[in-house]
Amino acid sequence: MTTPTFDFDTVIDRRAIPDEKWARYAGRDVIPMWVADMDFATPQVILDALHARIDQRVFGYAGAWPSLVEAVVDAIARDHGWRIAPDWLVWLPGVVTGFNVACAIAGEAGDGVLTATPVYPPFLHAPANTGRTLQAVALVEDGARWAWDWDAVDATLDARTRMWLLCNPHNPVGRVFTPAELDTIAERAERHDLIVCSDDIHCGLVLDGAHTPIAARSEAIARRSITLMAPSKTWNIAPLYASFAIIPDAALRKRYQRAMRGLIPHPNVLGLVATEAAYRHGEPWRHALLDYLRGNREHVVDAIAALPGLRTTRPEATYLAWIDCRDAGLDDPATFFEAHGVGLSDGRAFGAPPGFVRLNFGCPRGTLEEGLRRMGAALTAR
Ligand SMILES: Cc1ncc(COP(=O)(O)O)c(C=O)c1O
Repeated sequence: MTTPTFDFDTVIDRRAIPDEKWARYAGRDVIPMWVADMDFATPQVILDALHARIDQRVFGYAGAWPSLVEAVVDAIARDHGWRIAPDWLVWLPGVVTGFNVACAIAGEAGDGVLTATPVYPPFLHAPANTGRTLQAVALVEDGARWAWDWDAVDATLDARTRMWLLCNPHNPVGRVFTPAELDTIAERAERHDLIVCSDDIHCGLVLDGAHTPIAARSEAIARRSITLMAPSKTWNIAPLYASFAIIPDAALRKRYQRAMRGLIPHPNVLGLVATEAAYRHGEPWRHALLDYLRGNREHVVDAIAALPGLRTTRPEATYLAWIDCRDAGLDDPATFFEAHGVGLSDGRAFGAPPGFVRLNFGCPRGTLEEGLRRMGAALTAR
């Protein structure tokens, strides 16, 4: 059997395709390396499934069908060693939707939702969207990686805390939390009687080690967990809008579904088609992607280490690098690099102090090298 080869090097001109990532810099010579959206073509197995569905010519309302559910259940067992029951699945149009619904059932108005910063910005807004209070705890960098400050966690958890909103693997710091870290979270959840809502959207993008869903650690933590997953980040199909929550406890699942009623639409039917194709047939492409991203990661880590005043840790997952520019003497690094042709995400939106940026390295190697070259030239030319 021959191993299929995949092309991640060819640059697709996205300027002709309406989208957020490239439209932000329309008409300007700025390489967009911000929003978590890769510049690679969606794998052919997914495109083929979408074409076949379109060729059927009729789009009826559709919930998840049996072979789709089977593909998801099998993939979670295959990839994460977690055997879920089909009826634990609750289908959603998006993961952000999913954790906003979770906040809505976490205690009552005013109750607390704990999350670790820096974090994907919608985590910071979800508690207030549903009348809850954000309880943010800063992760700490120990020189090599970002980790939990358990004393700060314990000082933040209080009688009003009702939910732990976890991001695992973590955007933007790229951590894949270890079983020991997850067990510590589970122990605190038990002690404070919390729901744990874990956004595992990046779980297919683990570069080192393996992803463990917190709910897979024990039956006790499974009973208080809402795990959110989607094929969207891994196979770059986020705008097809299909994701799911896994809620093992029947009572918690019912509360969650009740909170969705009348507000949350079904996923897009083409997203569901893509989901089945991704989990059934997308593994060879995903493995090739991970190899390519590991190569890109090394370029980023080496290039950033060589730039004066910039530091980063090695992301264990995702295609995102979190860069500390505080020693570079820049007032506003995102604006500075944008003025020199590289569009990064400003770390302040992630609840970080000034001086951080996030770089998306999910792009052809040549694009990445040019972006890193521009960053270096910008710093040298000051
Ligand atoms: C941690 C995390 N959760 C959720 C999302 C977006 O999910 P969705 O588009 O399904 O709402 C992203 C997108 O970057 C993300 O990084």
